[in-house]
Amino acid sequence: MSVAQAPSPVFALRDLGYSVSIREGVREILAGVSFELAEREILSIVGASGTGKTSLLRIVAGLVAQSSGELSFRGVPVSGPPLGVAVVFQDYANALLQWRTVAGNVLLGIERRFSRAECNDRVASALSLVGLERHARDYPWQLSGGMQQRVQIARALALAPSVLLMDEPFASLDALTKSSLQDEMLRLRDETGASFVFITHDIEEAIYLGDRVAVLRGRPGTIAECHPVGLGRERDQVGTRAAPEFLRLRQHLHGAIGAHA
Ligand SMILES: Nc1ncnc2c1ncn2[C@@H]1O[C@H](COP(=O)(O)OP(=O)(O)OP(=O)(O)O)[C@@H](O)[C@H]1O
Ligand SMILES: [Mg+2]
Repeated sequence: MSVAQAPSPVFALRDLGYSVSIREGVREILAGVSFELAEREILSIVGASGTGKTSLLRIVAGLVAQSSGELSFRGVPVSGPPLGVAVVFQDYANALLQWRTVAGNVLLGIERRFSRAECNDRVASALSLVGLERHARDYPWQLSGGMQQRVQIARALALAPSVLLMDEPFASLDALTKSSLQDEMLRLRDETGASFVFITHDIEEAIYLGDRVAVLRGRPGTIAECHPVGLGRERDQVGTRAAPEFLRLRQHLHGAIGAHA
């Protein structure tokens, strides 16, 4: 008789630590970080500036190695960027190639993998998802900061990833674009079944999007708390943000984010 095995989580982190050498010795940036990301889940991670959010995301993305502890992707130890995982970086200006058009930037991750027709389709639909279909021939330096960030998001979407790792992706956007992209992201999860690690310092955004909200806190940074968001999967910008559960969590997280570990 075969014993059914529980499926591996998308990502599993166990007691992960990260230190870097600096002139004065060693700087411990992360310590004892443990969490799992489930299939189709949006895990929001909130934390104050400098707590190690970007460092953590770069490790999960396989771009830098942790100093200690374990990181696996679908049960396999991570030793480089895993296939099917796309990253949206906090620093959009450095993430885009200034000498390539908007369409050229969105093509970056897919041009060697698909036919020209498939690439053109993917670029067009990713650009229309972020509302930039009329800027395909512009260069990044001809766009506003918010528009450049949307190009980067389109580049990630063109990959049709099964996991998106996002580092404060909407921080530079105006309120209207931000809420429409938040809803687009929820729709995408429902349609494609993708999973997300969503990093933000915006508590309300973390709750609105998250199935769970984890708090990164302390020096070195660690996941100090993790809360399920009891709001169901259907969210809307007005009703959800006024729900008692939303307000309760918001109040709690305001206290938790700054408290010392
Ligand atoms: N290569 C490095 N060398 C030295 N210190 C580093 C290095 N990378 C990160 N740090 C330090 O680690 C800490 C965490 O940085 P990180 O960018 O991960 O924080 P963050 O939570 O993303 O901050 P923010 O919200 O401002 O984006 C900071 O104190 C930073 O100075
Ligand atoms: Mg950061």
